[in-house]
Amino acid sequence: MHPLHYMTIWFTGLSGAGKTTLARSLENALLASGQPCAILDGDALRLGLCKDLGFSSADRSENIRRAAELARLMNQAGLIAIVALISPLQEDRERARDIIGCDSLFEVHVATPLAVCEARDPKGLYQRARTGELANFTGISARYEVPAHPQLVFDTSTMKVEDCVDALMRSIRISHKRL
Ligand code: ADX
Repeated sequence: MHPLHYMTIWFTGLSGAGKTTLARSLENALLASGQPCAILDGDALRLGLCKDLGFSSADRSENIRRAAELARLMNQAGLIAIVALISPLQEDRERARDIIGCDSLFEVHVATPLAVCEARDPKGLYQRARTGELANFTGISARYEVPAHPQLVFDTSTMKVEDCVDALMRSIRISHKRL
C-alpha cells in the first residue's frame, strides 16, 4: 500500500455534526492499515494547548492557527493528522491551508443539518445557546460559512459512519497518488 505521509484530513462542521466520531473511525481504519496518525480535536485542544481561548472570532482564529501548525509538524514527522474543529470561517480555513500546504490538506465538510445537530445536542449546548446562556454559538448566534470547495461532503444523518470512512480511505489514496 502507498504510504500516506504528509497529509492532514481536516473535518469542519457544526457542533454535533459527527466530526469527532468520523475522526475516531478514520483513525482506527488508518491504524488498521498501518498508517501512523493522530487526532487533533477541538474539545481536547481546548483542555490544554488552547485553554486560554474562547469563542470570539479572534480566539477561534487562533485556535485554528495552532491546530494547523501542529498538523504541519505532525505531517513533517510522518504522521497523518486528523483535525476535527468547527473551523466556521472560510478565511481561517484558508490560512490553515496555507500553513499545512494546499497539496497536503484534505478538507471534509461534515454537513449534517443544523436541525439534526440540535436534536442530537449531546452536550446540551444548543439548548443553552437557544436560551442565550451561551453566546456566540455556531449555527445559532455565530455564523458557519459552508466550505466552497471541500474534497468531500458527508451528512451523518443520512450516511453510515463506516460508509463515510470507506469513501474517505478511497479518496485519500486516490488524492495521494495524484501528488
Ligand atoms: S472552533 O470554532 O474554534 O473551531 P472548536 O472545534 O475548537 O471550535 O470547539 C468547538 C466545541 O466547543 C464544540 O463542540 C462545543 O463542545 C464547545 N463549545 C462551547 N462553546 C461554544 C460556542 N460558543 N460555539 C461553538 N462551540 C462551543
